[in-house]
This record gives sequence, structure tokens and C-alpha cells, in this order.
Amino acid sequence: MGFFEVNVQSCQLVAEATREVVLAPGAGPLPGWTPGAHVDVQLPDGGVRSYSLIDGAGGWTAPGTYRLGVRLETGGTGGSRHMHALQPGDRLRVSAPKNGFPLDTSSAPALLVAGGIGITPLVSMAAALTAQGRDWRMIHAARHSGAVAFSGALPADRVTLHLDDVAGGPADLGPAIRAAAPGTHLYVCGPRPMIDAARAHAEAAGFTPDRIHFELFEAAAPQGGDQPFEVEINDGRVFTVPPGQTIVQVLEAGGVDLMHDCLRGDCGICRTDVRSGTPDHRDVVLSQAERASGKVMQICVSRAKGARLVLDL
Ligand code: FES
Repeated sequence: MGFFEVNVQSCQLVAEATREVVLAPGAGPLPGWTPGAHVDVQLPDGGVRSYSLIDGAGGWTAPGTYRLGVRLETGGTGGSRHMHALQPGDRLRVSAPKNGFPLDTSSAPALLVAGGIGITPLVSMAAALTAQGRDWRMIHAARHSGAVAFSGALPADRVTLHLDDVAGGPADLGPAIRAAAPGTHLYVCGPRPMIDAARAHAEAAGFTPDRIHFELFEAAAPQGGDQPFEVEINDGRVFTVPPGQTIVQVLEAGGVDLMHDCLRGDCGICRTDVRSGTPDHRDVVLSQAERASGKVMQICVSRAKGARLVLDL
């Protein structure tokens, strides 16, 4: 993966635990991007974290800056702490923009649904939809008003703000999804329960799979009670996956060549056939029917319900 150097131009707190970071070119011009794209940021410990591009001076094709939004994850792996400690003048290494969450190329209306910091890729989508003359609406859900970031500059008549503390709970996405005009494309970026709920409502409302788009903004967190389990692959080798590590991490450490991208369970690339054993699904990309079949799983996040999985790898 190629990384290049950029300079931190400015940083500011824009909402509770949410920081805006603006990056300026380092040695050469910043590569262009498309709405929904993200960059990978290299961390001092060698890890990588992905952050969606919100916008930046110069637009998408000839950007003069990249603007990112970073929520401080107190229980995370340290990537957001590093981003919250940056100061103007610091240097970062980032990848060229990638887009696993692109806008469709139709002229259909769009319903954009953001949970918290999941707003970041949707800001550029809203701008692109407006530029294309397409109809769009947005629901931005946050726990309370102090946690709302980045949607304030969008047209107020198109954005519905949902505050959990005012409403007494999470947003019910069903009415907006059922009321969407025929052919509407649904874009959801937020936590796993929001994506699961939006998909269920959209499928029940007759959205075809090609009109349901989603991206998780956080990696699957280890769950209390996770147990070690074994994974057997086609050459007979058996690996033990401890709590806190994924199948992808363990197999790659053992020299197994794997295909993956998001490492969050939303892109689908690491989909693997299950020969035996019962997966503990933690992705958002498989359909309910695929999960129930137990015959496929996303090995970047999902685990096992039993002692051993035999995978077609
Ligand atoms: S790498 Fe994207 S779903 Fe596993």
C-alpha cells in the first residue's frame, strides 16, 4: 500500500469528542477523490486507520486540502487518540483516497442516513447529489445536540436531525424508508445496529439490494465472553484464534494469503465458504439468509460459536 506525506494544516474540536483535521499537501499535490471515499492514515505503531474525506479546499478533482472528522474512541486501539493529539505542522502519512462506498450513477433520489460521526462520507455525497440536480434527504442521528458535527452546513430543509435524548431513544428509520420515492437509493453510515435496522426496513419496503449501500465507521469491538477457537484450512493446517484477534490476523501471521479490504465487515471481500462448524456472524454485509445458512462468513470480524471452523481457504 503506497503512503505519502501530508502536513497537518489545522485541527479543532467541532463537537463532543469530535475533531476536525485538515491536511495540506506535503511533497506533491493531493490525489483527487470521489464522494464517499476515505484515506488510510498510518499510525506510529504501524497500524492503519481509515477516515472518510468530508471535503476540502479545491473540491474533489484537484483538492488543495483533505478535511477529516475523527471521533475519540476511548476504548479503541489508539488511532483516534493519535489523531486527537495532532497539532498544526505535524506530518502524517496517508494513502491515496479509496472508495468502497461510492454514489450510484443513476439519477434516482437518495436517502442518506448517518449515525454520529458516520456523517463524514455523506457530506460529500450530499454535495454531489445537489450538483447533479438529484433529490436527496438526510437523517442525522446523534445521542444529543453536543455530539452533532458536520451536518450544520447542509440545507436545513433536507436534513432531519434526530437526538436520542430528546426523542427518548434511537431513530426509527422505518417511516422515512417506507416513504421514500420509488427507485430511491439508501446510503447508511453508522454503527452496526443502525445498519442492520436500515437494511431490514429497506428489504421489507422492497428496496432491491443494488439500492442499499452502507459503510460501518467502526471496527467490530471484541465482545465480552469471546472464546478461543480453531480454524482448519484446506492444506490441513490448524490455527488457534484467541479473543481479541481475528481469523484474518491469525492466518496472515501464519503466512496464509488472504483477500480483504475494509476489515470492518462491510465490504464483502473476505467472504469465505464454511465447510463445517458454526460461524458467529459480526459483519453487516451478509444477508439474513446467508447468515442463517452458516455456509459463508466474513473472516475479518466474525468468529465461531463452537470449538472449530473448517474453512475453504
Ligand atoms: S474485509 Fe471487508 S468484509 Fe471483511
